[in-house]
Amino acid sequence: MARLLLGQVLWFAGDPMILGEAAARHESHGGVLVDAGRIVAAGPADRLRAAHPGAAVTDYGRDLISAGFVDAHVHYPQTAIIASWGKRLIDWLNTYTFPEEMRFADAGYAAAIAARYLDLTLANGTTSFCTYATIHPQSVEAIFAGAQQRGQRIWAGKTCMDRNAPDGLRDTVQSAYDDSRRLLERWHGRDRLSYVITPRFSPTSTPEQLAALGALWREHPDCLMQTHLSEQTDEIAWVRQLFPQSRDYLDTYEAQGLLREGAVYGHAIHLTRRERDRLAEAGASLVHCPTSNTFIGSGLFDMGLARRLRVGLATDTGGGSSFSMLRTMAAAYEVAQLRGQSLHPSQLWWLATQGSARALRACDRIGNIAPGMEADLVVIDLASTPAIEQATRRAGDIWQALFPTIMMGDDRAVRAVWVNGVLHSPHPKWQ
Ligand code: GUN
Ligand code: ZN
Repeated sequence: MARLLLGQVLWFAGDPMILGEAAARHESHGGVLVDAGRIVAAGPADRLRAAHPGAAVTDYGRDLISAGFVDAHVHYPQTAIIASWGKRLIDWLNTYTFPEEMRFADAGYAAAIAARYLDLTLANGTTSFCTYATIHPQSVEAIFAGAQQRGQRIWAGKTCMDRNAPDGLRDTVQSAYDDSRRLLERWHGRDRLSYVITPRFSPTSTPEQLAALGALWREHPDCLMQTHLSEQTDEIAWVRQLFPQSRDYLDTYEAQGLLREGAVYGHAIHLTRRERDRLAEAGASLVHCPTSNTFIGSGLFDMGLARRLRVGLATDTGGGSSFSMLRTMAAAYEVAQLRGQSLHPSQLWWLATQGSARALRACDRIGNIAPGMEADLVVIDLASTPAIEQATRRAGDIWQALFPTIMMGDDRAVRAVWVNGVLHSPHPKWQ
């Protein structure tokens, strides 16, 4: 049966990184009509009520109905080591990340962390994400099975590493190709699940492994390919040593068939002019991970790139310090300020929804409210804490009302989450 959700409704008719706030649409007494997992209509509440008298109604009052958040770059296996103290990238990987990822050899552990991650992110209003798993195929199985059970659209891939990783956490050229292919054939396109080919980053893959994954991508061109690019200066210097024949970091991927539309590069902070131009020319996507880039001390992403490239927003759990896309928007705002760029609330909200969906080449399905799109929705309480409530009370428009939640909000602001047209029932532990 059709259901009409009532509240304030926010959606986008264009790209606010280009058009500014004029690209956003806001209905203060609005509604979203949902049926069979799809959005059927959105607009003024009165008009929708009159046109659909048989629909069941859920009235969220002054709460804001938006597309669910889309987190474009995460490592779900790092859930338990989030907020680990005091290291920079390579040291952080060796000290915290690799020992934790080793535990995913145990399928039971992988399933438990997958469930915990899915519960935590849904509690934060994130309905879709693109995740790295570990080198273990069972870590991919675990997250796909958990998301399938919850009806979610996600992307996941086996992380491939055949060098510069500890014993027990390396695959080979052949096993990376074989395992990735088997997982891709088993999961890609099943329900709302998509496989993403996932070399971790150039320092942990030989050129031969990158080439094998480039070959797999040519055989399955509709898949995404995700990896890391130019996150820290020490990492870039290491890549230069490991790949003396390459022009730059991007070239280590480009030379092996890992640069084209559908490539999703995390971080991409310290880029040369050639890299920026090639990324734009190739139609690649970049993912900004602001809480991670400040937490691990990586640097300040240039949001000006969003005028030339698809840019998504991400927590980068657990290099990032939060599961919340609200906290991530706040960090994106602050990082932009430090670069003399001022992101409007409409731009921040767009990055966390349509921008990320577009970076994952799924903006016609998720990340916005429009007829025919999949009904992944988050309902936001714009007065979720006393501090936010008092700041919002005198707001003159939706952006003034929304910005305190962007800057100070967290999972307490998430009143409800609809996944594929179904109201999500949180795990009792998270209620
Ligand atoms: N570069 C390679 N692997 C990782 C990772 O797990 N997290 C982050 N932030 N950067 C990486
Ligand atoms: Zn990452």
